[in-house]
Amino acid sequence: MVARATDASYCRAQLGCARNQRPSSMRRPALTRTFPGGFLWGAATAAHQVEGNNLNNDWWKLEQDAAPHVQYSGDAVDSYHRYEEDMRLLAEAGFTAYRFSLEWSRIEPLPGKFSRAELAHYRRMIDTAQRLGLTPVVTLHHFTHPGWLGAHDAWLRDDAIKLFTRYAEEASTILDGVEWVCTINEPNVLAVNHGALAEVAAGRPYPFDALPDQRVGAALIEAHRATAPLVRQATGAKVGWTVANQALLPAPGGEAKHAEVQWIWEDRYLETSRDDDFIGVQSYTSQLVDENGIIAHPERPDNTITGWAYRPDAIGIAVRHTRDVVGDVPILITENGIATGDDERRIAYTREALGHLLDAMAEGIDVRGYLHWSLLDNFEWGRWEPTFGLVAVDRETFERRPKPSFGWLGSVAKANTL
Ligand code: BGC
Repeated sequence: MVARATDASYCRAQLGCARNQRPSSMRRPALTRTFPGGFLWGAATAAHQVEGNNLNNDWWKLEQDAAPHVQYSGDAVDSYHRYEEDMRLLAEAGFTAYRFSLEWSRIEPLPGKFSRAELAHYRRMIDTAQRLGLTPVVTLHHFTHPGWLGAHDAWLRDDAIKLFTRYAEEASTILDGVEWVCTINEPNVLAVNHGALAEVAAGRPYPFDALPDQRVGAALIEAHRATAPLVRQATGAKVGWTVANQALLPAPGGEAKHAEVQWIWEDRYLETSRDDDFIGVQSYTSQLVDENGIIAHPERPDNTITGWAYRPDAIGIAVRHTRDVVGDVPILITENGIATGDDERRIAYTREALGHLLDAMAEGIDVRGYLHWSLLDNFEWGRWEPTFGLVAVDRETFERRPKPSFGWLGSVAKANTL
C-alpha cells in the first residue's frame, strides 16, 4: 500500500528508528505467533452505545436537541436487558474477557442520590461475567455525564473532580473481585468533545480537526489522579485509564509540529499513566502531521466507514509509542477494530493488527490482552452507520447475529495463537 510505504520511510528518516520503531516493512517477522499464557481475549462495549434508554445523560439530550443531524440512540441494542446473552456468546466463542462501562447517570440520577438498584444491576453484570468465565474489565466513565452535571462543559465546573470522585467511591462498592478498572475512557477525546459537541449542539458538523481542550484535559488528569488510588485501595483492582492513540507520524518538515501536537493529543495523558497499574491502548488508524498540523485522512477507496485510513499497523506504532512515554507499565489493548460492512475485511484488518502487536511484544513490550472494539454493532456516537461489531444486531427484534469475524477471533483466542 503506497501510503504505508511512505509512512514507513518517514518513520525511518524522521524518527531514525531511535525507539525501536523500525518500520514494519524492515522488521523480521516475529518467530513465534503465540501469545503469552493468561493473555486476555475479549471485546468491548460502552453503556450508552449498547444499553438503550439512557434518558438522563448529556448525549441523550444532545440527540434530542441536535436531531436530525445527530441520530437517536433509543433502545440502542438493549444490552441493558440482554447483557447475559452477550456475555454468553463471548464465552461460548472462546473469549475470556468483556470490557463494559458503568453509566454514571443511572447510578447517580440526582446529585448525591445513588441508585441501589442500578448499582446492583452492574454488580449482576460483574457476577454474570465471572460465572461465565469472563474477566470483567470495567470502565467507570465512557463519554457520558449525568444531565445534572452539565454537558460538554461538565469538566470545567469547580466541583467536577469532587463529584467524579464521589461517584467513583460509590461505584467502587460493587467492584469487589474485579481485576481491571479503567477510570476514564479516552480523556483526550473527551477533551476534544468539549468544543466539538458544542458545535454539534449548535447544528454545525463535528469538527474533525479539533484538538483536545487543554483545560478540560487538565481537569481529567486531576480527576484520574484523584480517583485511581481510591479505587485501587477500595477494590484491590489494577487501575488505569485508556488513551486514544492517534499513531501520529511526522511528515517531512513537520517534526516540530508533530512533537507539539503529539503532546497535546496524547503524551500528557500517557505521562499521567506512569503511576498506574496498566495503561489501556486504543488504536484504529494513523495520521501524518506536517508543519500545519494533522493531515486529514486522504480520500481513498479503502478508507473505513468512519472515513479513517485503513491502518492495521497503527496498533504497533501505538504500543511502541505508549511504552516510550509510559515506560514499563503493562499495556492492555482496550480497543482496536474497524468500521466496515465487509466482514472479511474486519478479519483481514484484525489478523494484520494482531501480527503487528506480536511484533511489538517480541521486542519485549508487556501487553496483557486484546479487547476488540466492538462486540456489537452499536450506537456510534450520533450515527448508526459505522458498524464496528463482531456481532450484528437486528434493531427491531434485538436478535444477535454473530459474524464470521466473531468465530474467527474466538478461535484465535482459544488457540492463543495467530
Ligand atoms: C471510543 C468508542 C468508539 C470507538 C470508535 C473510541 O473512540 O471509545 O466509544 O465507538 O472509538 O469510534
